[in-house]
This record gives sequence, C-alpha cells and structure tokens, in this order.
Amino acid sequence: MNYPAHIAQKIAKCIWETYATQVDGLEEYLETPPNPDLGDFAFPCFRLSKSLRMAPPKIAASLCEGLQPDALIQRVECVGGYLNFFLNKSSYAAQVLDAIRLAGDRYGAGEEGKGKTVCIDYSSINIAKRFHIGHLSATMIGSALYKMYGYLGYRCVGINHLGDWGTQFDKMIAAYLKWGSKDEVEQGGVDELVKLYVRFHKEAETDPSLEDEGRAWFKKIEEGDETALSIFNWFKELTLKDAARVYETLGVQFDSYAGESFYNDKMGRVIDELKAKNLLEQSQGAYVVNLDEYKMPPCLILKSDGATLYATRDIAAALYRKDTYDFDKCLYVVAYQQDLHFRQWFKVIELMGYPWAKDLEHVAFGMISYEGKALATRSGHVLYLEDLLTKAVEKALEIIEQKSPELENKEEIAKQVGIGAVIFFDLFNSRIKDIDFYWDRALNFDGETGPYVQYTHARCCSVLRKAGEQTAQPDYASLEDPQAQALLRALDELPSVIREAVRRNEPYLVTRHCVEMAQCYNRFYYEHQILTDDPAVRAARVALTDAARRCIAIGLRLLGIQAPERM
Ligand code: ARG
Repeated sequence: MNYPAHIAQKIAKCIWETYATQVDGLEEYLETPPNPDLGDFAFPCFRLSKSLRMAPPKIAASLCEGLQPDALIQRVECVGGYLNFFLNKSSYAAQVLDAIRLAGDRYGAGEEGKGKTVCIDYSSINIAKRFHIGHLSATMIGSALYKMYGYLGYRCVGINHLGDWGTQFDKMIAAYLKWGSKDEVEQGGVDELVKLYVRFHKEAETDPSLEDEGRAWFKKIEEGDETALSIFNWFKELTLKDAARVYETLGVQFDSYAGESFYNDKMGRVIDELKAKNLLEQSQGAYVVNLDEYKMPPCLILKSDGATLYATRDIAAALYRKDTYDFDKCLYVVAYQQDLHFRQWFKVIELMGYPWAKDLEHVAFGMISYEGKALATRSGHVLYLEDLLTKAVEKALEIIEQKSPELENKEEIAKQVGIGAVIFFDLFNSRIKDIDFYWDRALNFDGETGPYVQYTHARCCSVLRKAGEQTAQPDYASLEDPQAQALLRALDELPSVIREAVRRNEPYLVTRHCVEMAQCYNRFYYEHQILTDDPAVRAARVALTDAARRCIAIGLRLLGIQAPERM
C-alpha cells in the first residue's frame, strides 16, 4: 500500500470538491512529522496558498473538514497551516507485515533498473603494493553499490581497473634482476617486491645509472619484450593472489580485472580521435587538451617521449566500456584527491562529442587516516587490511568465548562478526567525510556498530526459534503501541532508503537504517512480552519479529555483511 499516494489523492479530491481547483504532485510535499503526536504524515498547506490565494491556516481548516477517515486513515487534524494524518494503526501493521512476508528475502528489491547497465569501477588496486586500510572505502563502497544496484534490477559490471602500468614496474624489474631471487619473491610475495623497490630508490640516489636501467626496461615492456613481460606478469600474479585472499574475506567480487595495461593497444584510437577532432595541442613537447575555458589545467595526453598517461588510459577505458557494455552509467569509486583528474578527462570525453559523458560519475570518498595521522607507506605508518581483519576476528572470538562459550562453530561466527564490524565502520558515514581510523573505535562492538545490528538479528532469530509455529490469526490491534508502530515505520521505509542510497550512491544511508531498525526492534523487545499467553497477540508480535529479522538481514546483506542466526 502506498500511503503517501493514497493521502495525496484524498487531498486532491478534497481540494477539487471544496475549491473546484485541480492540483497535481501533492505527494511530493508530504512530510514526516517530527513527533508521532503530530500524526504519521503531514501536509504543509502553504504549498497551496499560491494556487488557492489563501492563507495556509485557512486552507488547512477548510480541507480538514472535508477529509473523511477511511480504512487506512483513522483521523485528520489541522494544526496551524498543517494537515496531520493519523493512520489506522492496525491496518497499517497488517499492510506492512503482509508486504514483507510476501516479498520474503527480496523485500525492497525492484525492477526499475531492468534493461539498464551500470559499470562500477572500484577497489582498482595497484600492482606490487599491499592492500592497506586506505583501500577499504574504494572496495567496500563499490561492492555495496554493486549489490544495491543489482537489487533494483540493474545489470552491474564490477571492474577492478588495476594499476598495472607505469614506471615503477620497470624499476622493480631492474631491481629484481639485480638483487632479487625467485625463491625469495615467491616466499615473500608483495612485501619482497616492495623491499626491492625501496632498495632501488635508495641506491639510485648514489648511482643515477640505475634510473637509466629502469627506463630501458620501460621501453622493453612497451615493446612487448618477453622477459620483461613474463617478470611483470609474475609480479602481477603475486599481487592478485594476495588481493584475492582479502577479497574472499570481504566477500567482494569483480566481473573484470581489465586494468591500465589492458589498454596498451587501445591508445591509438584515443590519440587519433583527439587529433581528428582538433582537441590535441602541443605544449612543451607534450600533447594536451586545453581546458582553460573550463578553468582547469590542461589534461595531459602524451608525454614528450610519447608515453601515455593515467588520464589517456582512463579515456581509452571509458570508450572501451561504452562499446563493450553500453552502460547507462559508469561509476568511479575513487578517493576525493583524484577529483580534478576525473573532472578533466570527463570534460575531454564531452569535448570529443560523446553525449554519454554525462553518465560518467566520480563517486568520491574522503581520506582515511590512521590513529590521527595520514597514512605513509614509506615511513611505515600504515595498517594493512589483512592485519586489521585478522585482529577484528580475534577480538570477536575473544568476546564470543566470554559471552557464549557454548556456541557452535565459534570461529565461523567470529569471522562474520569481526569482518562485519570493519565493513560497517567503513560504511557508517557519508562518503565524503574523512575517516579517522582508531583501533578501539573500529573494533567497538557496542552502540551503533555492525555487531550490535547482527546481535539484534540473532536476537530475533532466537525469539522465532522459541516461538515455533503460530496457528492463531494475528491480532494487529495489539501492534498499535508506539514501539511497534515505530518499528513498522522503519521496516516500511527500507525500500525507499535503498532507492535513496542508490540515487545518491551513498551506502551509508542503508547502514544507518540498519541501526535504526535494530534500535526500534530492541525498544519493542524490552517494552513488550513477545511470547505472551494470548495466541493472537503472540502471533502478531512474532510476525513483527520475523519481519524485523528479514529487513535487518536484507540491509546487512546489501552492505556485504553477514547476518548470523546465533552469536
Ligand atoms: N589505481 C588507482 C589508484 O590507486 C585508482 C584507479 C581508479 N580507477 C580509475 N579508472 N582511474 O589511485
């Protein structure tokens, strides 16, 4: 049942009957009053004062007289310039619970994305670097959006645009051939590669010829030299093996790993097109697209030595994605620091005459710092994601050992809770807010946290286990109390929260709503005995518990967090 639509229709009919005036689009103006004493929906009559040429309180008073209660609306009151609508609480409860029961695990899902494709570029890690907490948002925001768009029927293409091209790899190859050993690298993995890279830089300070050596390897890679490529591909394999472990733990997946090097043979088209469209300009030996008119520095396309750049590759990738997937939207979940980069090359695509430039969107997020200081890989002020996840799981296990030592498969649950805590922490605030990572906050399991929500879900499951099958007809009138009504309202809102999260590419809206649903359930749980003797009351409260369980699980699932049944 769409209550806002029903109410809007009622008001429109009343305006027509009272003033012989037709007004549309009233639904948009409906508000949720700040407190339940003012009803469930409010209509601000100043929205009508222009078309009716009357003061809002007068309009409210006259409409209030004409608005009759019905099966859904119990009463209408006017307060100042507002019309306040009070729902029939028990029919509201019946409607919401029916809708959730019928939709089951797909409650809130939709078809509005059917036939539309969204490419989501997320995580997009760099080869030969270890996954640290700086990559958490790029990974988890993207992964949550992937799930949410999919839930609304969009076809999603998850792309890990690997940073697998650039001069650092040539230096790494040079360093490996000079000082490295196959066994050590096999054993040490990415850490060993990083060590070689650091050594290269150190030694290059006193021996500049090393830089030339690096450059020579760069040429070789570009020319497709076999030795160079095979070493590089091996480095890439090692990095991806490390990353795969993290992705597996986080439950993150991709449909494509086409990274920067994938476009090596697709740069010609970009250059040719830019030339043909008269967009390329020479500047100090390099080729750029001038963006003065748009108050941006020029977008660098080719360096003076003919090498392409990060932006050139992003342009090539966008053309390729449009050709291959024919996307309706292409999202880039990348840190805010790259804002200018994206604005620049989005503009270049627009100047190339592609109308789909407007479908490219930089889904930016803030910085993550660690214990109050910016991350710095060089000085070692860094926290690797794997270490964080391990620690989170350990802590969860510790708490489980204390609180529920008899729990079966403790290790598995500890994993779900520990990882869930980290993901929840990452997705708790609006994207653009910087995150200051503190151990005690990320691993806090009380208050507005992942484990708290998971615990509430497990609590619902436990109530349902104890309740068993209900045979009586639920007495929905027993759900008219404020706690049950607030919970129903929160569950009822879940579908529109998911839509808003997708519209704004803001997973945190779902995170916050999970907390809201959990808090509402807990208030209901503390205030009322669910397994009462009256079978009809009991059936209604159990049905509400089941609906809460379902909605919380759906919310968590969309964030990429598991919902254990016991903990
Ligand atoms: N690898 C890049 C970095 O770590 C992020 C790539 C984002 N995606 C893109 N298409 N530019 O900064």
